[in-house]
Amino acid sequence: MAEANAANPNAIDARVFPPSARRGSECRQLKLGGVRATDLTAQFGSPLYVIDEAAARSRAREVREALQREAERVGTSATVYYAGKAFLCVEVAQWMVDEGLAVDVASGGELAVALAAGVDPARIGFHGNNKSEREIRRAVEAGVGTVIIDSEIETERIAAAARAAGRQQRVRLRVNSGVHASTHDFLATSHEDQKFGQPLDDAPRLVTAILAHDSLDFVGLHCHIGSQIFATDGFRESARRLLGAYPELERIAGRPIPELNLGGGFGIAYTSAQADEAPDVARIAAELADIVAETAAEVGIAIPKLAFEPGRTIIGQAGVTLYTVGTTKSVALAGSDAAADPADLGFSERLYVSVDGGMSDNARPALYGADYQVRIANRDSDAAPALVRVVGKHCESGDIVVQRDVLPGDVQPGDTLAVAATGAYCWSLSSNYNYVPRPPVIAVANGSARIIVRGETEDELLAKSVIPAPVAPARAD
Ligand code: LLP
Repeated sequence: MAEANAANPNAIDARVFPPSARRGSECRQLKLGGVRATDLTAQFGSPLYVIDEAAARSRAREVREALQREAERVGTSATVYYAGKAFLCVEVAQWMVDEGLAVDVASGGELAVALAAGVDPARIGFHGNNKSEREIRRAVEAGVGTVIIDSEIETERIAAAARAAGRQQRVRLRVNSGVHASTHDFLATSHEDQKFGQPLDDAPRLVTAILAHDSLDFVGLHCHIGSQIFATDGFRESARRLLGAYPELERIAGRPIPELNLGGGFGIAYTSAQADEAPDVARIAAELADIVAETAAEVGIAIPKLAFEPGRTIIGQAGVTLYTVGTTKSVALAGSDAAADPADLGFSERLYVSVDGGMSDNARPALYGADYQVRIANRDSDAAPALVRVVGKHCESGDIVVQRDVLPGDVQPGDTLAVAATGAYCWSLSSNYNYVPRPPVIAVANGSARIIVRGETEDELLAKSVIPAPVAPARAD
């Protein structure tokens, strides 16, 4: 990453920033959706989450079309659910519906947002490894299209809720295919040691239990192998294993199992260095359609209808976070361990650039060591490049926004910084650590900007504290 940036630390890489991001003629300011970044911070404050509406919509359409086109090529169809956990609010849910996607929710709260957005309940998938009975009831009564059963215990709960509501609830069973997405070692492992789903080997027994309930309509297996995945072989292997279980499930059911949900997880480039490796969804779609068609033929079943649940690949690169620099501080690397790190590109100093947000608006670097790319947004500069680490304002040394990048060395207090690809899992993982209010989310489109999620104020945070009634002074007698 740093190498690519050192070449031109002012460059706005369209493979990482949203397609509308470019430097305008006036002072080479960054514009997003046709709006100057500094106009956005002047109007809405700093820090600020910005979502490029056209980028989110066109990516949603592109991903849906690719997955559907390839499914149709092999003689089946595909439903594409937007994984709301990546970033959900009423407007975004409506964009997704407009672009032909269904919506996947993972809690009662996400369900409430989707319903408030007017998403057709029949086009909602409801997930979670520990859905409360209340959440299950609410989902069933709302007429949610499919509930994904995560454990044996849940089967009974969902069946009871459906019976009470006088409905037959469509359900999928979430299984672990044993594929380890991140490591390619899928041939070595049969069960994943994690909390989601049930081992694939248990599927016949669990499906038998599901089929025993008249109030449940079993439509197929579900498997999500992980997230931010770059290699396509894990997806293929998982699809192959799942379909391998279908003949026995069809024998048990005495009918075809109509659907297969392969989850989400398609990775994106967070930095220029990742841009060439990030998977092409059209290629994944084609490979998956082929493997599904081949495996179905091999095991002698009709090709099931497919479903997918992408989140990050749809909303990730549509988002940019704007911050304002408060302080800078140079730290010598010479003589320290860090000097030996080749990723530091031989720089002898690291410039710590502190901004007005941090791990409360983007927990991903602290949680996953995630990488991001940063640019000065209010101007460009010919100053010599400096190795920078963008850090937040929280009381935590792991409060890092951008671990390592290269910026013009004259970056200074008052500059606006733009961090790319923050559309997914930033607002949704945000917190109020140190009583820092959450920034608003602004949608930009065609030269105008509007709030789609309101920010918080200190007063709102303070209002959560229960202020005890004054204690009456003790009487002296
Ligand atoms: N379907 C299921 C069942 C999931 O659990 C997830 C993500 C998705 C779909 C969407 O995955 P995507 O296409 O967005 O990769 N907080 C982490 C990511 C956690 C993902 C959880 N499940 C991060 O910030 O990287």
